[in-house]
Formats: sequence, C-alpha cells, structure tokens
Amino acid sequence: MATSLFGRDILDVQSISDEEVRLIMDTAARYERAMDNGGRLLNMSGRTLATLFYEPSTRTRLSFEVAMLRLGGTVISVADGQVSSSAKKGETLYDTGKMMESYADVTVIRHPVTGSAAELAAGSSKPVINGGDGAGQHPTQALLDLYTIIKEQGKVEGLTICLAGDLKNGRTVHSGAALLARMGVNFIFTAPDALAMPDKITKDLIAAGIKVDVIPDLDEAVAKSDVLYMTRIQQERFDDPAEYERLKTSFEVTNDTVKKAKKNMTIMHPLPRVTEIKVEVDDYKGAAYFRQAANGVPVRMALLSLVTGCE
Ligand code: CP
Repeated sequence: MATSLFGRDILDVQSISDEEVRLIMDTAARYERAMDNGGRLLNMSGRTLATLFYEPSTRTRLSFEVAMLRLGGTVISVADGQVSSSAKKGETLYDTGKMMESYADVTVIRHPVTGSAAELAAGSSKPVINGGDGAGQHPTQALLDLYTIIKEQGKVEGLTICLAGDLKNGRTVHSGAALLARMGVNFIFTAPDALAMPDKITKDLIAAGIKVDVIPDLDEAVAKSDVLYMTRIQQERFDDPAEYERLKTSFEVTNDTVKKAKKNMTIMHPLPRVTEIKVEVDDYKGAAYFRQAANGVPVRMALLSLVTGCE
C-alpha cells in the first residue's frame, strides 16, 4: 500500500511528519515481530538498494544492506566512494544521482560534507536516504534512537534525556534533538564548552517551549536523567589535532557513573565508542547501545519499504 512516504527522500527529520514517524515505528515493530517469528519477507523482491558511502561506517551501511536482504531485495554497494568511485575523477553528486536512478530503486548515501545527500537527491528521481552528511543530520539514526527509547522506557513523553559528549559535531544529536523535541521530552546538554550544542539548535528548542538545562558535570546530569545519550568526540571534524587530544577524554562513563544514575536509566550511544563508555558498563541492564544498533535493522526495513511503496 502506498503511503505519504512513497517516492520521498529522507534527508532530515524535519520533513517527516508526526504521523509518518508513527507509521515508521509501527512498521518497524511489525517487521521485528515477523523476524522474531522466523517469517520470510519478500516485500522488496526484484528491487535494488544502492549504498554509496564516502565516509567510514559499520552500522549504517551494513544494517541498511541486511534490511534490504531480509526484505528479499538485492544490494549494490560502494563502501569507500572517496577512492573507488568516479568522485575521484571529479564527478558531481548530482550526476551520480542521475546514474543511481537507473541502477537502483533507492539509494543511501553517507558523505563528509553537509548537504551532500540533498545534492545527490537533486539528481535522482528515485528516493535518496541520508545516511549521515558531515556534521549535518543522520535522520535514520534519530528514528532508530526513538524506536529504542520506546522499547527500553515504554514511552517518550516527559522523559529527561541527557545528550552528552561532542554536541557541536555530532550529527546524531542534531537529528535526535529535533525529533525528540516533538515528542515532549526535556533535555540536558552536557559537553565541554568548545563542543557545546550549536546555539541555533538550543535557541530553536527553547523557542519551541522545550526545557533545556546545560549541565557541564556528567555525574550531576546522570542523576537527573532517564536516558543518557553518550556520543564520541568526533576526531575527524577537528582542524587542530592538539585540540582533539585535549578534549578526547572529557567524559568517561564507568560503573561509578552508573551508581549515581536514577533507577532504570537507559544508556544509549550511536556507536562507535572510543573511551567514553567503559566496557565494564556493558553489564549494566540499562546499557542499551548494542540493542540500539540492532534496532537499526527493522527501522531501516520500514524506511526502505515505505519510500519504495513496497510496504
Ligand atoms: N551510528 C552510526 O552511524 O554508526 P556507523 O558510523 O558505524 O554507521
């Protein structure tokens, strides 16, 4: 059945309506149940997904690809587009989009430059999904994060969510803040001064009536949070290596941190982690980051089938 998402690009969270978010959550939950029950899904039989990755990825590329395979479709993939695609010869993303519309039914792109997914989409008449554009957005991560919070906490409205780490460069927190704000959450922002949430995002949230507390101390923030969303300090976005060295261990979640948490606090992280969550924390029952990554599969199955009209 075609829905309002049929034929659409997924470039940011702002262009997805609340009703469409609910549809994606419901479709993902249905696919997850079908997979748990050993069901064989063939919604996308005969369809092709292209994954064009110009920046490293483990989860986003592979979970999109496995999502397509679990729906019975096929995949073509460029994992290191910066060296092995014709971008190396100067081809524009617009022209690459023109090619993708004849090779694939839907394309996922990751690229280091903000706005690159939109440039590819401008060239393609088929749906393009943003798998992360520089420090811009990562909308499918925001959707799987929402799905994870619903599963772990049973609700979203009224929760206090601490976004911690590199809030300046982390595209997952930029997309996540915009999406979760619509669900009635309160935010705590915990970051070194040099990596604070961009002013525009904070001001827009406050103007929209969202409660935002800036609490630089991680232990103090954890004590007030229902969800701790840790992020990596984004080394690849620093111009000055010495500045990265200064900031790279700003926050480290340990078992001692968790002792200060509210009962049932959920710990999330888009991954990869470096040192910001110690491995000892993995045994904490609220440590949800690997479950969160697994949730990427049903959520991306839902997106692929909805934008191609195969749902
Ligand atoms: N969360 C995320 O985007 O992970 P990858 O960089 O491995 O895709």
